Amino acid sequence: MPEHIAVLDFGSQYTQVIARRIREAKVLSRIYPYNTQASVLQEAGAQGLILSGGPSSVLVDGSPHPDAAVFEMGVPILGICYGEQLMAHMLGGEVGKSEEREFGHGILAIKHKGKLFDGMPDSLRVWNSHGDRLEVLPKGFKAIASTENSPFATIENAERNFYGMQFHPEVAHSEMGTKVIANFLFKICGCQADWSMTSYIEQTVQKIRESVGDESVILGLSGGVDSSVAAALIHKAIGQQLTCVFVDNGLLRLNEREQVEKLYVDHFDLDVRVADKGKLFLDRLAGISDPEQKRKIIGNTFVEVFDEAVQALNSQGNYTYLAQGTLYPDVIESVAIDGNPAALIKSHHNVGGLPDKMNLKLLEPLRELFKDEVRELGTQLGLPKEVVWRQPFPGPGLGVRVMGEVQEADLVILRKADAILQEEMMAADLYYKIWQSFCVFLPVKTVGVMGDERTYENVVALRIVESVDAMTADWARVPYETLRAVSNRIINEVPGCNRVVLDISSKPPSTIEWE
Ligand code: XMP
Repeated sequence: MPEHIAVLDFGSQYTQVIARRIREAKVLSRIYPYNTQASVLQEAGAQGLILSGGPSSVLVDGSPHPDAAVFEMGVPILGICYGEQLMAHMLGGEVGKSEEREFGHGILAIKHKGKLFDGMPDSLRVWNSHGDRLEVLPKGFKAIASTENSPFATIENAERNFYGMQFHPEVAHSEMGTKVIANFLFKICGCQADWSMTSYIEQTVQKIRESVGDESVILGLSGGVDSSVAAALIHKAIGQQLTCVFVDNGLLRLNEREQVEKLYVDHFDLDVRVADKGKLFLDRLAGISDPEQKRKIIGNTFVEVFDEAVQALNSQGNYTYLAQGTLYPDVIESVAIDGNPAALIKSHHNVGGLPDKMNLKLLEPLRELFKDEVRELGTQLGLPKEVVWRQPFPGPGLGVRVMGEVQEADLVILRKADAILQEEMMAADLYYKIWQSFCVFLPVKTVGVMGDERTYENVVALRIVESVDAMTADWARVPYETLRAVSNRIINEVPGCNRVVLDISSKPPSTIEWE
C-alpha cells in the first residue's frame, strides 16, 4: 500500500477539507473511521496521523476514541481541536469546560517555533471553534503557542512527534494554515511531495491493465463529469476492451445525444453503444404525475435497459467488469456521531442499485479522488472544458423538470428554452461561474398577446443557483440584462411559451430541482 497520511474522522465537518489540504501539498491522504485499528493503519502504510476535530466532548461518556495503540505506532500525530483534547486526555492530561466558548478568529501567540511553526511569524490570526479546553498537559508535552482564551492552544511532544492544536489550520480563515500542515507533512512526518495527477494517471493505467487483463469492461456513460473522466482513463489503459453504454431515455437536453456521440466516438474513438429507449421511458411515464413515482419509474427502467444492453454485449465478448465513476466522497464512511453534519450529507441520488445481480466485478478508477481532482484528471486526459466543467444534471433528466405528467410536446418546449438559457449564460460568461442554470416547465397556461392575437400558452421558470456542494444553495443574482435577453429570446423563439418567470427561492427550504 502506498505511503500516505491517515486522517481519523471524529465527525468534523472539516475532515474532508483536511484530506484535501494534504493532497494540495502533493501528499496522498486517506480518511478512516475514528476507531480504525492501529494495525490496519500500519499495514496500509500510514506515515503520520491526523486526529480530526469533532462535535463531541471528551468529557462525555461514550465519546468517540481512537484505538489506544495508535499512540504506540511510532508515527507522528497531529490532533486538531477535539483531536488535541483526545490525545491529551488519553495520554494523561486534563480537559475541562471553558468558561467562554472560543469561536471565530483569535490571535495565536507563538512562543516556540520548533518544526511545526518553522518559518512562521510570532503571531497568527487563526480560526477556532471549541467549547472545551486543555487544563493540564500530559507528561512530555509543552505549550508552544497560546491564544487569549487558551494557554495551551498548541502543544508539542517533540520527542514522540506528537502535536495538538486547538485551532483549525485547514480552514481558509486560519492564516498560514497550509504552511502549518506542510510543516507537519514534510518536517515532521518526512513525506515526499510526490502525489501528482501525472503519477496518478500512470499508476492507475498500469493497475487497470493488470486487473483487467484480456477481459472486457462495460461503462454506463451519462456524459457527466465523473463517467466521462472514468471512460477516458479506462480507454487510455485498455482501448477497445472498453465499451460504453449511453442510455437515451428521451429526457435528454437539446442535441445531447448527438454531442455525446460526436465527442466520444469521433474524437476519443470510444466504443459507445446507444440504447435508444426514449419511447419506452415516455410510455411508462404516461399518466404519472407523482414526483417520487416518476423518479422510481425512470430509475428502474434505466437499470432494466442497462441490464439488457449488458446481456446483448455479453453474447459478443467476455465482459466481466462494470466500471463506475465513483468518487472518494462517495466512498468515505461518514461516522455516525450526533451532530456530525457529514453523516447527514448522504446523497440520496447516487445511481442506486446498479445491478448487484449483474455478477460483474467493479472497476472504480476514481475512488481515490475528490471532484476537483477528477476535473484536473479530465483536463489532463484531453477532455474539453464543456465536459470537465459541465453543470450537474440529474439522472432522471428533464423528467424532473417537466412538472407533473411528462409529455413529449412539453419536453420539446423545455429543451428549446433550456438551450437558450445555456447559450445566454455562456455568452454572459456566467455558465461556469454558477452552480446550475436550467429551465423548468410549468403545467399551467397563461394569457398573452402576440401581434394582434391573444395567446394562451405555457410558462417556463428559470432556476439559476449558486452553491458549493448542492446541500445549500441561493438564487444567483444574474444581471437584469442577461435575464431580459433570456426571457425575450424564449418568448420569441420557442413556440408554445408566452411567459418566463424567475425562481428566487433558496435551499433550504426549497430544493434546487422542482421535483
Ligand atoms: P435538490 O433538488 O435535492 O438537488 O436540491 C441537489 C443536487 O442534486 C441534483 N439531483 C440529482 N442528481 N440524480 C442525480 O444524479 C437525481 O435523481 C437527482 N436529483 C437532484 C440536482 O440537480 C442538484 O445538483
